[in-house]
Amino acid sequence: MDLHGDYLIIGSGIAALRAAASLGGAGDVLILTKGGRREGNTGYAQGGIAAAMGADDSPARHLADTMAAGDGLCNERAVAVLVEEGPRYVRELIDWGAEFDRAADGSPALAIEGAHSVRRVLHARDATGREIGRVLWTRVSPMSNVRVLEYARAVSVIVEDGRCVGVRFLQEDGGLAVARAPCTLLATGGAGQVYRETTNPPVATGDGVAVAYLAGAAIMDMEFVQFHPTALDVAGQPRFLLSEALRGEGARLVNADGEPFMLRYDPAGDLAPRDRVSRGIAREAQRTGKPVYLTLAHLHPAFVRERFPLISAACRQAGLDLATDRIPIGPAAHYVMGGVITDLDGRTTITGLLAAGEAACTGVHGANRLASNSLLEGLVFGARAGAAMRRWTEQPIDPVSLRGFDDGATHKKRGQPAFFANKGDGLAAAAVQDLMWRNVGLFRDADGLKAGNALAERLDDGESLAALAPQDWQAASLLTVGLLIARAALRREESRGGHFRLDFPERDDRRWRRRTMERRGE
Ligand code: FAD
Ligand code: SIN
Repeated sequence: MDLHGDYLIIGSGIAALRAAASLGGAGDVLILTKGGRREGNTGYAQGGIAAAMGADDSPARHLADTMAAGDGLCNERAVAVLVEEGPRYVRELIDWGAEFDRAADGSPALAIEGAHSVRRVLHARDATGREIGRVLWTRVSPMSNVRVLEYARAVSVIVEDGRCVGVRFLQEDGGLAVARAPCTLLATGGAGQVYRETTNPPVATGDGVAVAYLAGAAIMDMEFVQFHPTALDVAGQPRFLLSEALRGEGARLVNADGEPFMLRYDPAGDLAPRDRVSRGIAREAQRTGKPVYLTLAHLHPAFVRERFPLISAACRQAGLDLATDRIPIGPAAHYVMGGVITDLDGRTTITGLLAAGEAACTGVHGANRLASNSLLEGLVFGARAGAAMRRWTEQPIDPVSLRGFDDGATHKKRGQPAFFANKGDGLAAAAVQDLMWRNVGLFRDADGLKAGNALAERLDDGESLAALAPQDWQAASLLTVGLLIARAALRREESRGGHFRLDFPERDDRRWRRRTMERRGE
């Protein structure tokens, strides 16, 4: 099957849908999405969307908090766009029908999460992403120029004469097909599934980064992985996220003796940036040899159940009462700060190929993402990418110049790496996930990272991912992204944001206040 469109969008999360919404009345828009149309990280987002909309807030303040969480590596220009344009796009969502929770005076109720200096997180109880997805689908579905193909998994980017002309994709029946368009947006979301323990749903396997990398696009900041501190930790249960908004509303982290412990590890306590809370929790569990808990028992049970219905239900399924029981928690892979390098309009280093949302790397998050900035990123940069695609008919989408990313970025010439997964036994996804969790996780050192880099041994030159059987392709994508993370983590000999090296525990601005990029063959 060969499909054609004027605009091709891969994915159906917040970034993809907001881009599509910018293309109303333009040419044919074809959306390919790997699972059901609502499957993806957006639908699972809980805490909310950050925007400087409170009376005591300002874009400048939001910028300062974002830059501080980013631990010295944010791209300030990109952050400025995010925080200055964010409120406008959030208001637009409200105009389109988003029902965020309201304060008594009718204005949006604002929550606080880790490392925010003021309340600025708009939310729809604890299912904010679901509400935003609902609104965007309501907007995009009636657009007569938009076609959506579900269960269509992009497996490679087609580059002809140096420009992207579409993708190859696997159909539901396992057959390979081609979708062509003059410009293609990768909005494939995150890569949490690279790790054994993750808050991300099964579709989050980093496909966009893998296919872009294999097509020759430049990738950046892959060593920076955010581990959310509070995922449910009950044997046999999924690592369901227990939103940071719980702590924003007063939930406390306690050890098995019921003692608060975070101040032992960080002066900012329970609401320190995520990377520091995650490490604090892991260290406390190691120190005591016992589990660590989240407790809301001191709050009013009716308030807890009313404010957090989704999380209450998930806890109930695990046999726990969120309002009264201590809830066992632990860190889990949540978000990859790195991705396909883009400029502020989503342009990648390949002509005609754009990226937005979690798959992209604009540099807004630096080494560590501020809570609830990701939905905002998808919204703002999805809209900007959609507008750039719309302008395409007037001006071709050129590749972005890497010179624009010269924040001291390293370009290291390296031997031609092995890219392609072989079809053999080396492809077990579970083995990759386990290795990544043990060796390229919360605490890293050279020995473990070298073991992570041994993932390369399971890769073999010579075959395209598109030639793999569907079940192998998933693992090959995990392997490619895992290797990009492990390689970048081994290279960075310091600790910063989400990247912590036991053998280099300090931040080293002299050598490492710079971002690293990697391109196939470089
Ligand atoms: P996604 O929403 O993940 O969408 C990606 C889409 O691409 C999906 O439709 C997927 O099926 C599709 N896809 C993937 N691979 C392929 C392929 N090969 N071919 C075709 N389609 C493909 N952020 C916040 O700001 N606030 C929060 O409160 C918050 N809570 C979160 C809670 C959880 C449990 C999780 C997992 C994340 C949370 N995040 C939150 C992060 C945030 O949800 C995501 O970063 C954001 O939604 C990403 O949007 P996206 O559009 O880039 O990707
Ligand atoms: C959460 O609700 O804790 C997740 C928020 C985020 O990932 O930004």
